[in-house]
Amino acid sequence: MSKNSHTEISTASLTEKSFESLLPAKLRTASRLFFTPIEVAKTAAEWLSEDDSEKILDIGAGVGKFCIAGASYTRAHFYGMEHRESLVSIGSQIANHFGLTNVSLTHKNIIDCTFSDFDAFYLFNPFYENLEYVKRLNDEVSLYPDLYQLYLNYTEKQLDSLRKGTRLVTYHGNNFEVPDSYEKIREAFNGTLKLWLKQK
Ligand SMILES: C[S@@+](CC[C@H](N)C(=O)[O-])C[C@H]1O[C@@H](n2cnc3c(N)ncnc32)[C@H](O)[C@@H]1O
Repeated sequence: MSKNSHTEISTASLTEKSFESLLPAKLRTASRLFFTPIEVAKTAAEWLSEDDSEKILDIGAGVGKFCIAGASYTRAHFYGMEHRESLVSIGSQIANHFGLTNVSLTHKNIIDCTFSDFDAFYLFNPFYENLEYVKRLNDEVSLYPDLYQLYLNYTEKQLDSLRKGTRLVTYHGNNFEVPDSYEKIREAFNGTLKLWLKQK
């Protein structure tokens, strides 16, 4: 099957409802708070891949909702790194359900990732859970205020080391991870979604 026909099939069946129905009941409510809405993910993925970026990394991928939507609507390959193993397992099953071959979800902490292995980046406020411990997704990983700064510093340094022209999309958050070398060039969804471009 060609990539094109594969993409059309996936797009036809991916909706908020169809995605949510594939989640365990416990995650359905959390989904609205922690995972990117399909329409937002579609815009973000289109922005990230419009310069022909091929390998897109979601920094803290959850159940892979951004990656799955991106893989359904664009030709890029979406890589999701996630430190909660149970979410990786659920997301991989959902990607299979939609027949997607351009999604790879991996159980990995972001501090073990080398960003230069990828072309473009997506960030939906992953590290804040270390500060707002009561609003955690589940108890699967250790969360500490010190980890917030550690992950943030690592991400900022990695992003700062990438080539000029690198694209980054952020959704919500305070954008402290975004180095000064990036400039905001576009926004949507009432300013919650931002496209940044590395200037030097
Ligand atoms: C707000 S959710 C966003 C999920 C996904 N990017 C989306 O948009 O649907 C943030 C995710 O980042 C994960 N995360 C937080 N810190 C991480 C780290 N250091 N390494 C890998 N994943 C992390 C959390 O477990 C959570 O699933």
